[in-house]
Amino acid sequence: MLRALLVSTAVTVYSLPMSKPPAKSHGRLSIGASSAPRDLMTDRPHLEGAWVAKVITLFPEVFPGVLGASLTGKALAEGLWRLQTIDLRQFGEGKHRQVDDTPAGGGAGMVLRADVMGKAIEFAKKDGDLPLVYLSPRGKPFDQALARRFANGLGLVLVCGRFEGMDERVIEHFGIEEVSLGDFVMTGGEIAAEAVVDATVRLLPGVLGNAASTEEESFSAGLLEHPQYTRPATWEGREIPDVLTSGDHGAVDRWRHAESERITRERRPDLWKSYSSTEE
Ligand SMILES: C[S@@+](CC[C@H](N)C(=O)[O-])C[C@H]1O[C@@H](n2cnc3c(N)ncnc32)[C@H](O)[C@@H]1O
Repeated sequence: MLRALLVSTAVTVYSLPMSKPPAKSHGRLSIGASSAPRDLMTDRPHLEGAWVAKVITLFPEVFPGVLGASLTGKALAEGLWRLQTIDLRQFGEGKHRQVDDTPAGGGAGMVLRADVMGKAIEFAKKDGDLPLVYLSPRGKPFDQALARRFANGLGLVLVCGRFEGMDERVIEHFGIEEVSLGDFVMTGGEIAAEAVVDATVRLLPGVLGNAASTEEESFSAGLLEHPQYTRPATWEGREIPDVLTSGDHGAVDRWRHAESERITRERRPDLWKSYSSTEE
């Protein structure tokens, strides 16, 4: 329902002399932008101060995707953040709008062209500089600290690779930060972009109903989260730990903290090492 609403109200914010517009925006700005959508994006780029994600992709139709659901979708519709997709194909060369070519030096696959990607990035930058991120398996592993850094800014331009990736000169020329979702290879950067935006947007003020929930969850204090339980009190012969139904809030806090420490120590020696060194 929400997704359909967002997609059906998406407004073209820019039009090159081409068959298809390259950029679409999602969210509240687009809903109210029917008479002059371009003005809203170019003359008042930070209207309402909303954090913005600009995604350069060959597959704009996969956005907002999961970002249009639940809390991120509600926040998008309320204008707490904005999403703009930039269709890389529209910057392609020739009749077929070619975006890729064979790798210099030979080898398998195709590489996204520097000139095509360069034009798309210049387009994304034209109404204000934002940090540039290329989703890439070679990048810095994405983590909660990075999500916090991104949430503290005005927004991001996210570049989704395809094929064998993009020409290295683009990364050097624009000083792009490479960010990885993990040590595995996906076919494209779109899922990684949605993951980065999801983790970032939920940290923006007003997106989560209960602000305390980001303070207590995994990674926030350098620990993994304690186990969670809810009704029924007994399930398949398993009980909720007594302390959680004792009504003793101090005891509950101590139990949760001890469980967080135990789980972190058992599962993530790397996190445990840095946590215990800061506790000393
Ligand atoms: C098939 S991959 C290219 C892999 C590249 N040839 C390599 O070996 O590093 C195509 C695109 O998917 C995206 N991608 C794949 N795995 C990723 C990951 N773990 N994190 C972030 N992006 C990823 C990147 O945008 C990448 O350019």
